[in-house]
Amino acid sequence: MLSNASRVTAPLIREAKGKEQITVLTAYDFQIARIVDNANIDIVLIGDSLENVYRGSETTLTATLPQMIYHSQCVSRAVKRALCILDMPFGSYHVSRTATLRNAVRAVKQGGVSAIKLEGGVRMAKTIEAIVKIEIPVMAHIGLTPQSYHRMGGFKKQKARDLLLADAKAVADAGAFAVVLEVIDAEIAAEITNEIAIPTIGIGSGPSCDGQVLVVNDLIGLLHTPSPSFAKRYADVSSVISDAVKRYAADVREKRF
Ligand code: KIV
Repeated sequence: MLSNASRVTAPLIREAKGKEQITVLTAYDFQIARIVDNANIDIVLIGDSLENVYRGSETTLTATLPQMIYHSQCVSRAVKRALCILDMPFGSYHVSRTATLRNAVRAVKQGGVSAIKLEGGVRMAKTIEAIVKIEIPVMAHIGLTPQSYHRMGGFKKQKARDLLLADAKAVADAGAFAVVLEVIDAEIAAEITNEIAIPTIGIGSGPSCDGQVLVVNDLIGLLHTPSPSFAKRYADVSSVISDAVKRYAADVREKRF
């Protein structure tokens, strides 16, 4: 069982469908990854959202593979139990099959992760199949895929039920062990969850998914921009840090240090 596992693997995530809810959080550095892992979160995703969260960029498109590998190293060093997944950045799996496979191997070898994630449904099915064939587990990601920013004309909710179902089925048939459903109507997400054999991990897609994922900075309230409306906040770490910094500055200025 997933909750009893001393080390979470891709097959354990796959087998958890219908039995246990799967918990997923992003992490980008050693300290947060250690806290997240110690809290028994099942999957730690080194998301390309680090481009927004860590580097203040508006989109994730400028994330690079060396950056993702660097952050994956920091995270995978801290994590003892969770499955670590590197989010393949835009461009690293789009150009040619050879380059894609080389980049996927590099992610695992250098990043220390046990799986990768990539965005896209039907159009990425052959790519997923090829990566799985070289022994690398793949988590898929459909719905609002931030790397499709320019094609979609912004961060646009995808509403076409038939296309979303086709995407979900295509990635499951291609061998993905799980699929992220981002900002999909709750009823469609529930239908997808019932229709496919692999776990669905929701973000802004309602309660019926097989698990949920959040960007950890949204969860702890450590952001420079407002969180998306679906992101549940459990703490206000920005205020805690701000207060500590102000008290430190006051102590220095008043010579109380
Ligand atoms: O990059 C990321 O953090 C993600 C999650 C939001 C699923 O893709």
